[in-house]
Amino acid sequence: MIIAKRPAPLDPARIAAVRRPFDEADMFPPQVFHDAALFAWESEEIFRHEWRCVGRDEETPNVGSYRLLEFAGEQVIISRGEDMQLHAFINACRHRGATLIEGPADGRSDCGEAKKIVCPYHAWVYGPDGKLQKAKHTEDLKRFNPGDYDLVPLRCETWQGFVFLTLDTDAEPLLTYLDDLVDVFSRFNFAPLRRAKREVYEVAANWKILVENYSECYHCPGVHPQLNALTPYDLGEDIPARGWWKGGWQPLVGEALTMGLDKGSHERPWLHGMTETDAKRIQYFAVWPNLLLSLHPDYLMVHMIEPLGPGQSRVVCDWYLHPDTMKRPDYDFSDAHGFWDMTNRQDWHVCELQQRGTASQQLPPGRYTELEASVQAFDLMVADRYAADGVRTARGWAAGLAPGDMEGIDFSDRQAARAAIAAKLAAAELP
Ligand code: FES
Ligand SMILES: [Fe+2]
Repeated sequence: MIIAKRPAPLDPARIAAVRRPFDEADMFPPQVFHDAALFAWESEEIFRHEWRCVGRDEETPNVGSYRLLEFAGEQVIISRGEDMQLHAFINACRHRGATLIEGPADGRSDCGEAKKIVCPYHAWVYGPDGKLQKAKHTEDLKRFNPGDYDLVPLRCETWQGFVFLTLDTDAEPLLTYLDDLVDVFSRFNFAPLRRAKREVYEVAANWKILVENYSECYHCPGVHPQLNALTPYDLGEDIPARGWWKGGWQPLVGEALTMGLDKGSHERPWLHGMTETDAKRIQYFAVWPNLLLSLHPDYLMVHMIEPLGPGQSRVVCDWYLHPDTMKRPDYDFSDAHGFWDMTNRQDWHVCELQQRGTASQQLPPGRYTELEASVQAFDLMVADRYAADGVRTARGWAAGLAPGDMEGIDFSDRQAARAAIAAKLAAAELP
């Protein structure tokens, strides 16, 4: 576990109140969505240290393929080397620090192909692995070892086709960081999936408001009537988690086969590794701090949330399919894309309402309802980081439901499923 060097600038009593048992806990005070000093702390202590997903392996397919991106305030190049490995480094020359590859801010593309990276200033030459290959007129210098002037590297590792970066040279390996999530996903093979669609949203809300929103379906009946008809808000369960992630699933009810505008009737092939049980659920995972993975039987939806400021976030939403599915003559993804684009916008609206309302300095912290244990599960990750005391707070379960309580229930009849759950809960309460 990464422990911040200093606690967050927030009243420790407020952090402790979030860390109480679920049914006694307070939410964070509204200032955590607005305070500039707290956002600066998060930027330094969370976003520069955590492993964070920045995209997919497929985006740099060849030797010399590169991408430019901003990561925790640093301009970064991700490039595929001769060894076919991905390398990430700061986009600045080791001579006098010029930007090596110009990007969108200069009217250029943010990706391309370059087997050599040649500095536009004095033409030092680097390989796609960031190694200095040539620096004219340095041959007779004293104390100059070219191997000491490679581009400044960042840690870069992949999992299931996702590319993660961290600026923390002491960070544990990515798979250690992901912990038991690796096992939960081991039956799947998402690396061969390819992007079918991308939407980029600018949302006037704090990044934590967006993850909290993703963590519950309490809002679904009013905000997402279309989604609620396919996966009712009060059916589903959390997935036990040890690592820095949280997950849950909701059953597809009635005839629904997936999430789509055509009432989820689309029959695309299941993703590799989906079991009969998986195929009757939508599974949602929030990977600390800002990656959201939504597993549908037939497609994977990914949200990456980039904090731009205390009250502003950029959400990149991608949909992934097996490439063979996209080659089928009857291929059509508009039902799923349309459904989630609508649902995303429904969410952004209420997130922006929360951002605006919490600007009040009069507003005290709220309470988690019985359908929001998973919101507290995310907030506990925030609180544990804020506290910087090395304690990992145990998470509670909502409304007496424990993982596995819904196993074996047939969700094709919603009313019967609810009755079966009620019977299981009543039986669990017996001495
Ligand atoms: S700044 Fe890059 S070669 Fe001089
Ligand atoms: Fe929602």
